[in-house]
Amino acid sequence: MIVLGIESSCDETCAALVEDGNIILSSVIASQTDIHNKYGGVVPEIASRMHIEAIVPVIEEALLKAKLSIEQIDGVAATRGPGLIGALLIGFSFAKAFAYARNLKLVGVNHLEGHIYSSFLSKNIPKFPFISLVASGGHTNIYYVDSYENFELMGQTRDDAVGEAFDKVSKIMGLGYPGGAVIEELAKNGNSKNIHFPRTYLDKESFDFSFSGIKSAVLRFVTEHQENLYTLKPDIAAGFQAAVLDVLKFKLINACLKRDCTNIAITGGVAANRTFYEQLVNDTQKHGINVFAPKKELCGDNAAMIAARGYRMLINKNYSKFHHDVFSRNKIDSAGLK
Ligand code: KG4
Ligand code: ZN
Repeated sequence: MIVLGIESSCDETCAALVEDGNIILSSVIASQTDIHNKYGGVVPEIASRMHIEAIVPVIEEALLKAKLSIEQIDGVAATRGPGLIGALLIGFSFAKAFAYARNLKLVGVNHLEGHIYSSFLSKNIPKFPFISLVASGGHTNIYYVDSYENFELMGQTRDDAVGEAFDKVSKIMGLGYPGGAVIEELAKNGNSKNIHFPRTYLDKESFDFSFSGIKSAVLRFVTEHQENLYTLKPDIAAGFQAAVLDVLKFKLINACLKRDCTNIAITGGVAANRTFYEQLVNDTQKHGINVFAPKKELCGDNAAMIAARGYRMLINKNYSKFHHDVFSRNKIDSAGLK
């Protein structure tokens, strides 16, 4: 079965063609970050307009790259939420119209379930049960996943998402948006031991996160060290990154130990951070835990993960109706994501 996946929840317009839920025939991502960079973050109205311009060309390109014609598509999967309403509406409305015109079944995919499914798009996939981290600009969620349909939410951020913390720290240091990759790169030239930022573990039994305190701590430090900020920047980046990675690793390993499972799959834009992956592999070794991370282009927003999730929904006849609407906050579909 060939599924057309469409993703437009934030600032990337994406289309992909995926066969049988795990063979990527093409995956096209039109990123808007250069435009939003000027404003220091995503401007929802601009994002919607850019999606309108990009949606048809990305689908055409996906078909071209996969060497497929429209007639060969068997089903349509589009992100329904959570995300920016105006942005979601472009992709989901397009998907409705396309499915109607082609007489195809349509499924509305939960973006977070899509991220979890990006773990199934590699050669080496995690065995059930596994702990899944969705760490992006909008979410920091830990799930216990024991089947293709069951995602139990164990914990989430109570304020900023971890990617958001990277972005805000980058902005504080004048390094632009998005900040994750820039901070990771800068941190390589710094020493994480030179500046200590607080680790917010909350209740150590809880799997919830809080990243707003560390952002404020960085802001305070930067304000107090304006005169030699330039030379301190690599150490600030390294100190900040070490603090957030320590918390993520601690919670993930504890979640594994608590639920007696030996697999961790990290996903979302922050999972593209190689320092995170390498430290997690290192720290989990003594516990016999395996770590999985998708390829870089599948960590951030993409439509292949939406098609992969959509494939299972199509098989299960979990179809969307044409009157279904998009949603900005998580509330529908699967266990833990209600
Ligand atoms: O999953 P994603 O593409 O979009 C959302 O659903 O939010 O994630 C984007 C987030 C941004 O906050 C970005 O700064 C962060 O992922 N990110 C990183 C890295 N690459 C992207 N964070 C840390 N290290 C990275 N290398
Ligand atoms: Zn995302």
